[in-house]
Amino acid sequence: MDKKLKVGILGATGMVGQRFITLLENHPWFEVVLLAASGRSSGKLYEEAVDGRWKMSCDMPEYVKKMTVYDMDKDFDKINSEVDFVFCAVNMPKDQIRALEEKYAKAETPVVSNNSANRWTPDVPMVVPEINPEHLEVIESQKKRLGTKRGFICVKPNCSIQSYTPAIHALREFEPKLVVATTYQAISGAGKTFAQWPEMEHNIIPFISGEEEKSEKEPLRLWGQVKDGVIVPATEPTISCQCLRVPVLDGHTAAVFINFEKKPSKEQILEKWRSFKGLPQELELPSAPKNFIQYLEEDDRPQVRLDVNYENGMGVSIGRLREDSVFDYKFVGLSHNTLRGAAGGAVLIAELLAAKNYITPKQA
Ligand SMILES: NC(=O)c1ccc[n+]([C@@H]2O[C@H](COP(=O)([O-])OP(=O)(O)OC[C@H]3O[C@@H](n4cnc5c(N)ncnc54)[C@H](OP(=O)(O)O)[C@@H]3O)[C@@H](O)[C@H]2O)c1
Repeated sequence: MDKKLKVGILGATGMVGQRFITLLENHPWFEVVLLAASGRSSGKLYEEAVDGRWKMSCDMPEYVKKMTVYDMDKDFDKINSEVDFVFCAVNMPKDQIRALEEKYAKAETPVVSNNSANRWTPDVPMVVPEINPEHLEVIESQKKRLGTKRGFICVKPNCSIQSYTPAIHALREFEPKLVVATTYQAISGAGKTFAQWPEMEHNIIPFISGEEEKSEKEPLRLWGQVKDGVIVPATEPTISCQCLRVPVLDGHTAAVFINFEKKPSKEQILEKWRSFKGLPQELELPSAPKNFIQYLEEDDRPQVRLDVNYENGMGVSIGRLREDSVFDYKFVGLSHNTLRGAAGGAVLIAELLAAKNYITPKQA
């Protein structure tokens, strides 16, 4: 890339926004030129706006400390004129997020979003670059609907599904038909740390609003087909999920049972996982893990403490594959919810979009 693409972060003060800031320091293709949040933070220097609520384990990067935080709504014209595209991770009602994302897209600024508001908009691609990069094709029909030349919205799926969907995706040729999964989800998934959520210490809460529905439905959209400019979700496998909040800071674990139409051998499954490669690996995108999936042989892996940062938090760890007395097989998966599951996954999508020329400099 000759010239770095200029990016703005909408929601820069939040948990996911802070991850974007750390991931994009010295990024080879992208330069953060603008930070935006709500009216509560706007007009302040970033270090003031986030004072007492920096949630990353590393220090706040120097490059953002003296940047002014803008209001993503009121300062729209300024933001729009200075960036080539935006990352969006905000906590607002869905209808407001949908309106905000469309406003930027219609003004010719591509939006790479972490929010769920547009995940079911038929012509908005929801992408895990290793799983369904071909869905980017619907961007052309979305642009027609929006009346834009370069503006569009592209989203990433919910963080929970990344702990089991990649493992199942690698086994698609064996036709998975039934999946039962229980997820054990970290508190950073709710944008919180233990200091902000002390009730989570030594505790499990068996409810995460809206999470089970997302966990059951979103994988089917990833495995859907592009037809007439929209994504038509797959109808199989049937997925049933329970989602539990557990006292872990980062890392969603899933315990999975699975039945196949064409039951593979254990060796076939392991071979598919070990050899799995996607487009980001072929294109050698800057944030792509070399190995998307690792299989750990030890009986007590994957463990959050030991494995959550595999491939800088962009890889998925699997273990404990064994035959089951009720289902064909069972296994355990683990992925980093704010890296692969949120900001890192969105950065990888933006790299794919840039590599495929969907995002280009506004002034060439
Ligand atoms: N945490 C995760 O692991 C994760 C994973 C996948 C997806 N997500 C999604 O990413 C989004 C952000 O999550 P988060 O955990 O980063 O939330 P968060 O820590 O609560 O941050 C929310 C951000 O939204 C801004 N905001 C809140 N109300 C606003 C308003 N009315 N107008 C403009 N900006 C407003 C906040 O700005 P102020 O600081 O100025 O209030 C802040 O920058 C959510 O849609 C969430 O579902 C999160």
